Amino acid sequence: MSLKSLAVLTSGGDAPGMNAAIRAVVRAGIFYDKEVFGVHRGYDGLIEGAFEALHSKSVKNILAQGGTMLKSARSAEFRTPEGRAKAAEQLRGQGIDGLVVIGGDGTFTGAHLLHEEHGIAVVGIPGTIDNDLFGTDYTIGYDTATNTVVECIDKIRDTANSHNRMFIVEVMGRDAGFIALSAGVATGALDIVLPEKNTSMEDLYASIDRGAENKKTSNIIVVAEGNRLGKPFDLAKSLEARYPELDIKVTILGHIQRGGSPSALDRVNASQLGVAAVESLLNGKSDIMVGLVNGQLTQTFLQQAIYNKAPLDMELHRVSKILSI
Ligand code: F6P
Repeated sequence: MSLKSLAVLTSGGDAPGMNAAIRAVVRAGIFYDKEVFGVHRGYDGLIEGAFEALHSKSVKNILAQGGTMLKSARSAEFRTPEGRAKAAEQLRGQGIDGLVVIGGDGTFTGAHLLHEEHGIAVVGIPGTIDNDLFGTDYTIGYDTATNTVVECIDKIRDTANSHNRMFIVEVMGRDAGFIALSAGVATGALDIVLPEKNTSMEDLYASIDRGAENKKTSNIIVVAEGNRLGKPFDLAKSLEARYPELDIKVTILGHIQRGGSPSALDRVNASQLGVAAVESLLNGKSDIMVGLVNGQLTQTFLQQAIYNKAPLDMELHRVSKILSI
């Protein structure tokens, strides 16, 4: 079957660079003489048939913008077989024979089911700040989010230093520690508490004791939101009980990490992956995610991208321990 038209949507948590990916999909589709539709509000919009024909000019000046011009949603209805049947019906009714989805594991789970249950050709572009998808070194948004965190922690460091304080900084990432690890190394954190590593309170005490011996004046502990040791305010309480002399503050960076103009790397990756997604569909591929591994374009089955664990470079954690003396 030769593909005549395709649609693109963003779903799940938004990420900087999603607009750059939308632009790339739209322009690549048009380059290959296909009709391209944008779907508003993710899978909810797909179920409702919220399609908009997009042209080259529809995506002008969005490359540098954060967020997603198509808006995003976490759709409860699409998790049901009935919701997916409605969505497939909408696509068929509009004469769309290929769908590009930009998002993370929840988005890909839905896309895989749409392919499996209704034979819709789907290709995924990894778009999440969490970087937790197997089959790509970078998900779109991760680089920008990490840079945002670094900028924030650098600022926290200034005030921590002025007041000889310790800060516990919680960063996003759901069950993954990519942002925490990279940002922790980049900001010289005293310790980094990751979901992927069994850090004990004793480990934290050891880092703090070592810092004290070396007369460190400001201390930043970066904790990933999915860490297994505890919530930042609870950790602060435990540390205060053991070290009453420490002045400890907690900062939860929150959704600031999801916004902002995408970094050059996210823009470049989004552009490359957007074109690759369209070309994959045109080559008859489906049920796959396009990714970049060692700078090379790759294709990974959606289920593998979701269920295999994206490997975190634990060597970086060791490096951070050596350097935080
Ligand atoms: O998946 C992206 C992410 O920002 C996670 O890091 C975080 O756990 C979650 O989404 C927050 O989701 P919401 O914006 O729905 O609160």
